[in-house]
Amino acid sequence: MNTEEKKLYKLAVEHLNTAYAPYSKFHVSAALLTESGKITTGVNIENAAYGSTICAERVALFNYVNQGLKDDPIKCLLITGNTSRPISPCGSCRQVMAEFMKADSKIILTNVQGDYKMTTLADILPYYFTDGDLADGRDK
Ligand code: THU
Repeated sequence: MNTEEKKLYKLAVEHLNTAYAPYSKFHVSAALLTESGKITTGVNIENAAYGSTICAERVALFNYVNQGLKDDPIKCLLITGNTSRPISPCGSCRQVMAEFMKADSKIILTNVQGDYKMTTLADILPYYFTDGDLADGRDK
């Protein structure tokens, strides 16, 4: 990891204990960096109605939009958890990444022990559905 990625990692690990995960007891934290150097973070937030839970990655991405950053491209998204291998994002979060990130945007999967794996959106979600597909297949 380069210096800015290490900074994201440190931030994500620091935020891990703010996750609200009383049901799964599985804490996840994410941090993203934009091309202009802005950072947003997110943790998983669970709910007694389990389906209303939201993952850390989506909280970080929705914070990015909420902070008015959507025209500042995402350079890198880092995820961490207390897992023995670098944590892997769920399918729904991958699809939300596809909405706001480029195919070659960097995604760093990590764990609290410091293991990490660098990947890209295209690698973890090949053939993803896009607004282009929607425009193409919509009733004309
Ligand atoms: N979770 C995330 O926050 N990100 C993922 O990519 C995988 C799952 C959360 C959702 C839920 O709060 C807990 O982990 C167990 O699924």
